[in-house]
Amino acid sequence: MNKLRRPLIAGNWKMHEGGPGGLDLAVACVALAKEAPGVDIVIAPPFTLLAAAASVAEDTPLSLAAQNIHFEPNGAFTGEVSAEMVAEAGCSWVIIGHSERRTLFGETDELVAQKVDAARRAGLRPIVCVGESLDEREAGKTEQVVRRQVAAVSALLATGPLANGMPAAVAYEPVWAIGTGKTATPEQAQEVHAWIRGWLGEVSTELADLTRVLYGGSVKPDNAAELLTQPDIDGALIGGASLKADSFSAIARAAVAELTRMGVAT
Ligand code: PGA
Repeated sequence: MNKLRRPLIAGNWKMHEGGPGGLDLAVACVALAKEAPGVDIVIAPPFTLLAAAASVAEDTPLSLAAQNIHFEPNGAFTGEVSAEMVAEAGCSWVIIGHSERRTLFGETDELVAQKVDAARRAGLRPIVCVGESLDEREAGKTEQVVRRQVAAVSALLATGPLANGMPAAVAYEPVWAIGTGKTATPEQAQEVHAWIRGWLGEVSTELADLTRVLYGGSVKPDNAAELLTQPDIDGALIGGASLKADSFSAIARAAVAELTRMGVAT
């Protein structure tokens, strides 16, 4: 972490906890957000829980994200949900281009860029996910792949969210680390995070300084602290461990502890 940027801890619930259990989890996350001063806490429940979770989170420091959006504001797109609709339901963030969307639902860099633009239009902050597959890493293509994914959105992040005073986040999530229990080492993650910040810096220094670059991929209470000590890791996007209040809280506490270690008053 770095004193310039407020840490961001985000939970991606994926297709889990859409019912009463999810509402209980949202209530627990409100308590956690109140106990984690200095850290932004965001949860991304399934669409069906957003409005109910928004009532629980209203007037609290907990923020809500959608897991996906369609890029059009409305229209004949059966089964899709727009940026405006999730904003109306109470979201201030949206996860865009998660690797599961890219690999299972065919999302391209171009579509990801259209969704980033839709987020801007609706006043949502994007969390844009990037990351290489195992084959790409083993073929030495990590830098090339992640650079391409970042290049597809970096100018839009500067003219949209940043220009509107709502800097976005980019989540580096190596595909081989998602849900596998394998985490990138802090050094591996830091290397890619530093590249990402450098590429954002080619657009503007402000974009590089204000964009939070999150790490995602099997983040757990026992590896969060060492990841968060890296200077270009500004937080985490957490799947599995965000589904239990105690593990999600423990990761948020690791961010608070790192702020304290850096001498930042919370
Ligand atoms: P994981 O998921 O923490 O379960 O690996 C991360 C993600 O997919 O965002």
